[in-house]
Amino acid sequence: MKPIVAIDGPAAAGKGTLARRLAATLGLPYLDTGLLYRAVGVRVLDAQGDPADAATAEAAAQSLQPADLDRSDLRGPRADAAAASVASIPGVRVALLAFQRGFGARDGAVLDGRDIGTVIFPDAVAKLFVTASLSERARRRWLELRAKGIEAEIATVEEDMFQRDAKDAARAAAPLKAAADAYRLDTSGMDAEAAYQTALTFVRSRIGTQ
Ligand code: DC
Repeated sequence: MKPIVAIDGPAAAGKGTLARRLAATLGLPYLDTGLLYRAVGVRVLDAQGDPADAATAEAAAQSLQPADLDRSDLRGPRADAAAASVASIPGVRVALLAFQRGFGARDGAVLDGRDIGTVIFPDAVAKLFVTASLSERARRRWLELRAKGIEAEIATVEEDMFQRDAKDAARAAAPLKAAADAYRLDTSGMDAEAAYQTALTFVRSRIGTQ
């Protein structure tokens, strides 16, 4: 069986960079599952809808097309807030579950998100829970935004992130939490290279046992 590598954790902990690089090294397809929720949220906003309205958000999730993931406006505060709203709607999560399982079924995959190791692929061969302190994650997100020419106050970025973490962790449907068998990687004091080497060593040890 082709391996599934599940990478979960809060926003801006370094999951995406890590997951993309692991996937390239291991020769596995990569899916950023946050993009699915972002694309659903932005589609609802496009239609002047309310991302917190279950029926509207479910319809957007059910009709999501792969091309929606290529949009250039899926990052930034507008998409962040809409994604967090639609992600708390159980019907949206159900609609996106099949997409995610289908993605990994054929060739294996590295997927990053919030519930990959707990809900989407509870049998994943390797599970990582990647974290960093709130202030460090806010600093990284602020740098990312600045690199894209989006001006923001670091305190506002941190406050938004705090609110979104709380929403992700408190929601009834698939809240953000580490799987019991996940390897916890705190990247606060690490650069991307050190995080990658630590994660690769762990994943290789797990795939070797398959
Ligand atoms: O990782 P991200 O910031 O792109 O995620 C966007 C939103 O979607 C965030 O509020 C968490 C949510 N999400 C989720 O609930 N489950 C996932 N597997 C991925 C993201």
